[in-house]
Amino acid sequence: MDAKLPPYLHRQDGQLMFEQVPLSSLAREHGTPLFVYSRAAMLDALSAYQRGLAGRPHLICYAMKANANLAVIETLVRAGCGLDIVSGGELERALAAGCEPAKIIFSGVGKTRAEMRRALEAGIGCFNVESEAELDVLDAVACDMGVRAPVSIRVNPNVDAKTHPYISTGLKGNKFGIAHERVVDTYRHAAACRGLSVAGIDCHIGSQITDPGPYLDAMDRVLDLVEAIEAAGVPIRHVDFGGGLGIDYADDAPPAADHLWQLLLARMDARGHGHRKIFIEPGRSLVGNAGVCLTEVLYLKPGEHKNFLIVDAAMNDLPRPAMYEAYHRIVPLQPSPAEPRTWDVVGPVCESGDWLGRDRDLAVQPGDLLAVLSAGAYCMSMASNYNTRGRAAEVLVDGDRTRLIRQRESVADQLRLERGLS
Ligand code: LLP
Repeated sequence: MDAKLPPYLHRQDGQLMFEQVPLSSLAREHGTPLFVYSRAAMLDALSAYQRGLAGRPHLICYAMKANANLAVIETLVRAGCGLDIVSGGELERALAAGCEPAKIIFSGVGKTRAEMRRALEAGIGCFNVESEAELDVLDAVACDMGVRAPVSIRVNPNVDAKTHPYISTGLKGNKFGIAHERVVDTYRHAAACRGLSVAGIDCHIGSQITDPGPYLDAMDRVLDLVEAIEAAGVPIRHVDFGGGLGIDYADDAPPAADHLWQLLLARMDARGHGHRKIFIEPGRSLVGNAGVCLTEVLYLKPGEHKNFLIVDAAMNDLPRPAMYEAYHRIVPLQPSPAEPRTWDVVGPVCESGDWLGRDRDLAVQPGDLLAVLSAGAYCMSMASNYNTRGRAAEVLVDGDRTRLIRQRESVADQLRLERGLS
């Protein structure tokens, strides 16, 4: 029934289980669409990085944009992670999850003064600064508060991550980072600012990267820059290589995190940089394959050109297919007596772009339950209320135990902030 299942998903008497929990019982208890995450799958993914970086000074900052549920970030924080944040909202979540402020790094091209101030008050570990203009504003805010802001400058290494153009960030034409040629001057300037203290250098070349080649190229460019910056008299304490490691959605074959880091550390050692503290910001590779989205088949709509399978999850729950034509495997939760057929799996939203999978061979009938796989990253965190659909509930599985970690959003929740005319 399934070609290949991600870790911790397996069949028992035909039933799809996550760890020791039958997913159909969760769908019955909490309704659908429903996101379900495996604690063990997240911790295993983290331990591959921990193994890869063992013995080296390092900090793994989970990029919480991938999945910002409090229980998810608490799980990773309790296992030793710091957090990579990109907004004031994520800062508050990070603090609420009990993350030590010194283990929080703040990325993103558009930090506001208020966000900078709050992050400085909290005492975060580092700001990853993305432009000269941002550097000057951060300097002014820090001087005004009488503190020094620890900074890394995000450099744009002009490396092709060979991924989808919307999630490629390290090329010249992207809005991210400071161009290679300007980096040394920018560091000289930062070192002279009273409100700044240079901590490290940062780069992130894109997401869903499945080839170690672009990472090794970026590493070389970053180390060239570290050498040039230090030659200009500005010491660099840590090197942040960002996130970006891909996961297996279909037939992807990304390197394992520990293997990737073996290669990268060998390159650092060969170039005499083995002593440097390493920061990383993985998102998808920690949570992507630790989550599924359960959905119920509402209607079958066979047609002359296409057969449509209409389910109760939609692009507002799972925006990746609509946004990036992304592929997620879709499998039934239990065997069905129906005849197999080729279906386009679509949601109830009023857009032709509302599809979850195309040309999928599935044996299903109305009322059957399906799991959309690899839905732990950039699904719930990008979900919206389009069509006034409440966002889904979320459940965390741990062995045979389960915990509701977000309630289903009601219409009342959605209307709460609005005011009618009367
Ligand atoms: N650090 C920075 C500065 C980032 O911009 C990102 C992701 C990460 C770390 C984490 O990257 P990851 O390890 O998750 O690849 N919504 C898209 C992905 C957008 C990624 C944005 N930045 C998707 O669904 O594919």
